[in-house]
Amino acid sequence: MARLLLVLSLLCGCVSEEPDPIPPPALDLPRMGLALEPWVEVLYEAPVELAVTLPGFEVVVAAESGLQRMTPLLEGPEDIEASLESVTGIAQLDDGLLLVSDASGLHTLGPDGQGASPLSELLVAEDVRGLLTTPGPEMADLWIVGSTDLHRWRDGYLYAVRPGAESMPDARLAWGPALDGSPALWAATDDSLLALLDVGGGLEARVEDGELVPTGLAVDGYGTVWAPTDGDLWSRTIDGQRQTVTLPVVVHDVASGAGSTDLWLATDEGLWHYAPETFRPVSGVTVERMLGVDGAGRVLVDTGDQLLRVASSRTVLFVGLADGDTLDEAIDVCVVASWAEGLEGLTVLSDGEAVEPTSTDPLCFGLDPELLADGSHDLVATAQYTDTEVEASLFFSVGEFVPPTWTDDIEPLFQAECGLCHRAEQGSVTVGGGRPLDTLVAWQADIDLILEVLEDGRMPLNNPSLSGDDIRTIEDWRAGGFLE
Ligand code: HEC
Repeated sequence: MARLLLVLSLLCGCVSEEPDPIPPPALDLPRMGLALEPWVEVLYEAPVELAVTLPGFEVVVAAESGLQRMTPLLEGPEDIEASLESVTGIAQLDDGLLLVSDASGLHTLGPDGQGASPLSELLVAEDVRGLLTTPGPEMADLWIVGSTDLHRWRDGYLYAVRPGAESMPDARLAWGPALDGSPALWAATDDSLLALLDVGGGLEARVEDGELVPTGLAVDGYGTVWAPTDGDLWSRTIDGQRQTVTLPVVVHDVASGAGSTDLWLATDEGLWHYAPETFRPVSGVTVERMLGVDGAGRVLVDTGDQLLRVASSRTVLFVGLADGDTLDEAIDVCVVASWAEGLEGLTVLSDGEAVEPTSTDPLCFGLDPELLADGSHDLVATAQYTDTEVEASLFFSVGEFVPPTWTDDIEPLFQAECGLCHRAEQGSVTVGGGRPLDTLVAWQADIDLILEVLEDGRMPLNNPSLSGDDIRTIEDWRAGGFLE
């Protein structure tokens, strides 16, 4: 943000209508399950102004008493030195700085303390209502939701996004694939739903549905777009199947995120949960606002007087390395069980061998590319609880390595071995009875489960198990970062 020459220009996005939407089939009976017994942590014991989830399972909370951050590696919350009033947006920039919007403008927070963001001067006429960063061509893009316009900050320029010269006040935003699979910013206004895509140097706005009255917006790990409208729940899967379901409750808002197989619903009767293909009420959680979902599918819930983090299951978190990363220098990786109660032990295997911890609480160990062969590698962490075991894995690569791709390797394997039963035909229901697995994002979202059912021979159902080479190809594809 050091660039001082700022230019304000207007980006006139052209609007294109999607081909006639197929009328949503009325699905009269969504599958409903028993109440979910959630895993609930109280993160903050007083009303919050705002809270966000950041990479590395970090949470930043703004409350009357100030700003605090929480990470899996910190014992408790850590204060962030800042002087702010009524925080409306928090985002993390590429250089690690926090950008915060409040009643007085935009501020940067970093090791040197608090500073006024130069963007403030360009946005004097705007009340900033929210901030979001999304992957950009080189650096992350920053989206600024204003009371009169939506803005994008890219490469030192600030653009007002005005599809068809219409301003977009108070837009609700979510990041996920558009119909053709390319990355898009989904934006819901009071009376329409748009996908904003970079097309030939400009931003194109595609109207997904001009009839919707979205009160919320989310894109889940399968690339499905969800928007509550009139208390019902509208959705569109990545292959274009649209449907609207009516639940026995009124849905106000939805929350999910890339990599998350959980969708959370804020309803008039508390929190609900959806995972393919079942809707369930969540026991004992009231919800005023949902404030985002983290990389482990856990949702931040503002109940009005407390901030909760709610999960549908326990898991193990890897901190310092992510699925598909390339390891090019020696690093420390830490492994933390998402739920501490009842935890009896935590073990980590690196390529099948126990790691040598450099610390035990939290459990951390070193990874050095010089000591690892070129190619793909895996980490498997197991948390032993008094009642069960929970496992998570992570694949990464080192040095010279040509990873398999979806188009050349994984999709043909899918068509040959799984397609019969896992091809999406009708919304989220497939002919063969299995969940839809015909897209890259669906494989990415369910990769742990897929490898598990292939390794133990449960799938392909009623057919010979896949060869070790085929399974290795899937693992290598994951280690290489799920290439297209
Ligand atoms: C002959 C039909 C058939 C074939 C072939 C098949 N599946 Fe399945 N699969 C099913 C059915 C039925 C289910 C159960 C419904 C569900 O959970 O989606 C299922 C479930 C699954 C699940 C979820 C398991 C769970 O515990 O929830 C995964 C993952 C899966 N299949 C992956 C695959 C993969 C990968 C292949 C190809 C290598 C494959 N399946 C081939 C029919 C099939």
